[in-house]
Amino acid sequence: MFVMPGEVNYHDYLQLDKILNAQFPESDKLQLAAHDEMLFIVIHQAYELWFKQLHHEVDSIVKILAKPSLNDNSPELQTVVHRLNRCVTILRVLVNQIDIMETMTPMDFLDFRDMLRPASGFQSWQFKELEAKLGLKFEQRHGKEYYISQLRTEHIGVIKRAEKEKSLLQLLNSWLERMPFFDEKDNWKNFASHDNRENAHPFWSEYRYQYENSLAEAEKNNLQFFDDIFLSDNGQRETGNEKRETGNEQSLSPSANRAALFIMLYRGYPMLQLPFQLLNSLLEIDEQLSSWRYRHMNMVHRMIGTRIGTGGSSGKDYLKAAADKHYIFREIAQLNSFLIERRKLPALPAPVEKRLGFVAG
Ligand code: HEM
Repeated sequence: MFVMPGEVNYHDYLQLDKILNAQFPESDKLQLAAHDEMLFIVIHQAYELWFKQLHHEVDSIVKILAKPSLNDNSPELQTVVHRLNRCVTILRVLVNQIDIMETMTPMDFLDFRDMLRPASGFQSWQFKELEAKLGLKFEQRHGKEYYISQLRTEHIGVIKRAEKEKSLLQLLNSWLERMPFFDEKDNWKNFASHDNRENAHPFWSEYRYQYENSLAEAEKNNLQFFDDIFLSDNGQRETGNEKRETGNEQSLSPSANRAALFIMLYRGYPMLQLPFQLLNSLLEIDEQLSSWRYRHMNMVHRMIGTRIGTGGSSGKDYLKAAADKHYIFREIAQLNSFLIERRKLPALPAPVEKRLGFVAG
């Protein structure tokens, strides 16, 4: 067939020469039969391609959220939500791909497993870079330095750079802090003083009161937790980025937490629908990542029992600890502990209600 110069060809466009000639089983090199090694290679390559796509999406989301004046009722926020949902869909596929991996039996794996050492998914720098871009800090990682122990210097550099950039979680915090639902600046710090109504913030003092009344006896400690999360302890957390970055500290400031809780409570209002979807998709990302970790861990247990991994870790134990620790958006999930029944929600002042509607008056 005649091909016009410059005409795009399927094979060339997709660089299939490179992709389809990038599978070199170690067992072939050693001339030892191991049929399933091809599957093992292809599936890992497919994962890495999807990781690449996830980076493409997350980078674009970060770029939008980093704008100082993102309009919450704009097409840009719609784009953020749309792309986050795409990330969720990709992650679902990644979870399901484990089904294919599990068609390989432990004996099939043993045919080539020892030929791989010390290669392991543990060296997937794209995976670790993605965690960092989303918001997982070095201090929060299981085993701290251990996670980079098997990586090449240039790949450690990639991850360290991502850790220094503003993460999606940090940008979320700034975006939430900017949410202009109602004038908070005056007396929100007084929302503990329900009895002193004149000085109290009308909304938050009522909310705290209703929350306190909703607690069972065994849950009374939650009120202190409520104050910690939503009230600034000493004013530091309002602006304390440094404090936030030091590890187990909260990543979301009290004002960001108040905005997030407000979005969850009043998500039925038109202006809050997209913000709610955004928060929800972040929770979904955590859930899918966690599902992947657990499915991967169970597959590992089934495949190698309690033996150490090819990457030298304690295998299943390492993966379990990382799975328990590496929730990135856990602070948003925690906010669900502070919801109250819909019928007890404080009524919103008329101007606020108006602002949350479609039509600005
Ligand atoms: C037979 C299949 C597999 C086995 C037995 C297995 C085993 C393991 C083990 C034992 C570890 C812990 C580190 C180590 O000591 O090696 C690990 C980590 C990891 N594996 Fe796999 N794996 C398999 C398939 C996959 C696949 C298909 C992927 C897809 C990319 C993958 C991605 C990862 C990642 C990203 C880590 C690091 C997790 C973290 O640090 O939290 N693994 N794997």
